Amino acid sequence: MNPSARIPGLRLLHSPGPTRVPDEVVNAMARQPTDLADPRVPRLIATCESGMKALLKTNRAEVFFYAANGHGGWEAVISNLVAAGTSILVPGTGHFSDSWAEQVQAFGGHALRTPYTEGLPIDAAAVEAALRDDTGHRISAVFVVHTDTASGTTSDLAALRRAIDAAAHPALFVVDVVASLGAAPFAMDELGVNVAMGASQKGLMVQPGMAFVAVDERAMEVARRNLAPRFYWDWLRRQSDLPYRKFCGTPPLAHLAGLEAALDLISAEGLDKVHARHARLARAVHAAVDCWAEGGALRLFTKAAPARSVSVTAIEVSHGIDPEALRTVARERFQVAVAGGLGPLHGRVFRIGHLGDMNEAMILGCLAGVEAAMQVQNIAYGRCGVDAAIASLLDQASR
Ligand SMILES: Cc1ncc(COP(=O)(O)O)c(C=O)c1O
Repeated sequence: MNPSARIPGLRLLHSPGPTRVPDEVVNAMARQPTDLADPRVPRLIATCESGMKALLKTNRAEVFFYAANGHGGWEAVISNLVAAGTSILVPGTGHFSDSWAEQVQAFGGHALRTPYTEGLPIDAAAVEAALRDDTGHRISAVFVVHTDTASGTTSDLAALRRAIDAAAHPALFVVDVVASLGAAPFAMDELGVNVAMGASQKGLMVQPGMAFVAVDERAMEVARRNLAPRFYWDWLRRQSDLPYRKFCGTPPLAHLAGLEAALDLISAEGLDKVHARHARLARAVHAAVDCWAEGGALRLFTKAAPARSVSVTAIEVSHGIDPEALRTVARERFQVAVAGGLGPLHGRVFRIGHLGDMNEAMILGCLAGVEAAMQVQNIAYGRCGVDAAIASLLDQASR
């Protein structure tokens, strides 16, 4: 293995982020910068803001962009909504809710958790019970990870909205759509979501490096009353028409140009079709894994079928199988890059990302590459995965 050698052809990228960046986005990001007084700059920003509002399905939220990754997006939410001593309910989804809760704690907030059961989505009843127990309304927000990328499990946001309403609790509903936006349906206003946050490198098909938050007036009011010190992340400071203030400094022009191109691609394909494509490809991957599972050595990690993410599939391997070794063979010998397990799932799962700029050929190529790597590793798998994926795609096409 010589990591610096040129690879002929493509290496298929099936990480659930960063995802493949389409040529249109690569080219847009390669443009020379303009001077900041150029009227194209505010026009570019306005197009990105309105495109994001359309994607998030909101007419009432304001969008703020940051030169940051997803952790920066989380920090933007926390800096504006969490003062020391603030209680936040962070329902358990696995690795990413754990990480967000840890960040809340680092700011002096109290992160309250609901129990998490591996392979299952958030238990809306547990969220409702936690809010009902909070008779003094000390919990100021519920921070929900829509799709936990580590487990490939998507939670039901409508059920969580109903849980908050049923408890008649005034907590803000704050949703991490990092791994779901642009892949799974999401409607901010309809769901009564007060803040949605995400990042550029997954369903948005842009290079890593830009985060966004969409904030409604109720959340903005909480931010106004929050006296905790902040500067770069501050939503109030960024409420300006001037690009330099809006971005607390120089805007990340390349990322904005990339986002503009990506939003154009999504709108040209049609958002419903984008969602349908993700669902179709995900079902093909699930069919393949169900077939591999017949060999007894691996299985789908998310047990609740409706909660299986359309963005990423986590595949649990039996004790004694090393998913990291499998990934290395898949990447270095068969040019298929899949992801490994995070946090407590390290060494227990590998993950196939199927979001963003993705099509049937790429999915079939990925599944074949993983099968080849499983053969090399002597893993007992049902030898019908690719066939099952093809059958699933054909069956869905005929409906
Ligand atoms: C659901 C979710 N939230 C937050 C993050 C953190 O994003 P980043 O790694 O860009 O900081 C990730 C990263 O994969 C994620 O999947």
